[in-house]
Amino acid sequence: MKTNYCDYIIIGSGIAGLYIALLAIERGSVLVLTKGSIDDCNTRYAQGGIAVAMGRDDSPELHFRDTVSAGDGLSDAEAARILTEEAADCVADLIRFGVPFDTLNGEITLTREAAHSVSRIMHAGGDATGEHIEVTLSRRVRSTSIKVLENCLATEILLRDGKVNGVKSLDCRTGSVEEYGCRSLILATGGAGRLFKYTTNSDVVTGDGIALAFQAGAEISDIEFFQFHPTVLRLPGVAPFLISEAVRGEGGILRNVEGRRFMPDYVARAEMAPRDIVARSIVYEMQKTRNDRVFLDVTHLPPRLVTTRFPQIYRFCQDHGLDITRGLIPVAPAAHYLMGGVKANSWGKTNIPGLFAAGETACTGAHGANRLASNSLLESVVFGKRVVQGTEGVGSAESGAPAAVEHPYSLPEHEPSRQVGAAPPLNLPNIQSLMWDKVGIIRSGKELREAAGVLATWERLMPEPSDRPSYELSNLVLCARLMTEAALLREESRGAHFRTDFPRTSPEWQRRIVFRKNVAR
Ligand code: FAD
Ligand code: SIN
Repeated sequence: MKTNYCDYIIIGSGIAGLYIALLAIERGSVLVLTKGSIDDCNTRYAQGGIAVAMGRDDSPELHFRDTVSAGDGLSDAEAARILTEEAADCVADLIRFGVPFDTLNGEITLTREAAHSVSRIMHAGGDATGEHIEVTLSRRVRSTSIKVLENCLATEILLRDGKVNGVKSLDCRTGSVEEYGCRSLILATGGAGRLFKYTTNSDVVTGDGIALAFQAGAEISDIEFFQFHPTVLRLPGVAPFLISEAVRGEGGILRNVEGRRFMPDYVARAEMAPRDIVARSIVYEMQKTRNDRVFLDVTHLPPRLVTTRFPQIYRFCQDHGLDITRGLIPVAPAAHYLMGGVKANSWGKTNIPGLFAAGETACTGAHGANRLASNSLLESVVFGKRVVQGTEGVGSAESGAPAAVEHPYSLPEHEPSRQVGAAPPLNLPNIQSLMWDKVGIIRSGKELREAAGVLATWERLMPEPSDRPSYELSNLVLCARLMTEAALLREESRGAHFRTDFPRTSPEWQRRIVFRKNVAR
């Protein structure tokens, strides 16, 4: 362990991991482990941008109110306050590092996304914000003494006397296993979007950090809340590709297969309603019209606006035979973002001393039951900066939101499916189909119980993982299990969690579900 020791070990090289690395290197030695190449991550695909209250008609207070309103009663007010008040300072760091945000006449241009009351989204390269952030940060990291090990999969958090001592990892190319020691271990492993059949997420986003943290005894919070993006390209034979919410922000309209605008039938804010509402409305409309897609229409917008504001989307569709300035874009919802994760306080601290979480893998509580668009890149940097301060002893060790709103559970032992014989074989497509069909946009107790049974069967059959695909599969099964159990417990509908058997929001459930391995509290 001694030879492989660093002050900071960061798992993951998306915005959270790289930004933290760049701040931490000012304070000690830093090692970044990442399971693919440095830019294999969700960050690289971010389109819309990063929210920050910098317009003349805006304020952190207004941004806070929009964030909490989208969170549907479950946002942690302190976390949402920090997110919105410390935004400008952290975005200034990104600019200092060289992220080329779009400008007009020397001023940063801001766009609008759903459920934001004003234009406050900074973007780069039109709709290539994530690519610019990832390339800029990784280039900067390469120019420092930060050590980056690619193709290195973290497989276990090492503890000594209840504190973090290091991490075990697998070199995915050679198969060799290494142990690295550290003072502070930071999980920046992203979400769990590969849980679902239709997803906007990168292949690497398999819930590893959540599974590792849970196995080590960390608390996992709010994991029932998974966000489905309303508008993802639905073309036969083409992998899901995001059509940014900013397209609706610039005036894009949703139409059903008959060509009729339908969103005003469901909600007054129509296309600009919060993401969960738009996604569910699209599902209802697809059911009504017996079709697997609706259409996003930008043909009424000036073609030059479309091609210059959304060059990536325009080019991608063009490459697949679709000129979006002249024809409708076929879209349907797909899995996008995990609100829950490793419970972290406002300094990124988990309940395990020395273990921190940041970015999508963390649950700070800021997003509550539904994240406001473009608040995720922001959360990664705002709480990422605080993680570095937290490792220096700043802030309390208390983990996460106040206990008064929590509802802690140990993960229940689950009876395997009564239809063990009927459980499909355990593999990635089968987990993704199960989660899409039974733990997806619209849930019911019956289907959740069926999913829980199949997952319990799979858990029993799970072989000891030995390579990257088998570790990822095992992590996905554990995350699926946590999500399903939490969704079963939450007998209400709130934010992104909707149950047909409990369609209303219940004041009794204005509390979080927190899981911790084998610990009943
Ligand atoms: P990621 O960027 O996903 O990085 C995770 C890293 O962890 C990767 O490097 C991965 O390889 C590594 N890793 C994972 N497990 C292991 C392991 N076991 N061992 C080693 N390494 C591991 N949000 C916004 O705010 N604005 C947007 O416009 C926006 N657009 C989006 C568009 C798309 C298509 C998608 C998918 C998401 C979008 N989001 C957006 C969400 C946002 O991009 C992500 O939430 C954010 O980038 C997450 O950053 P992260 O650093 O936490 O994780
Ligand atoms: C988008 O561009 O629609 C994605 C924005 C986000 O997920 O925050």
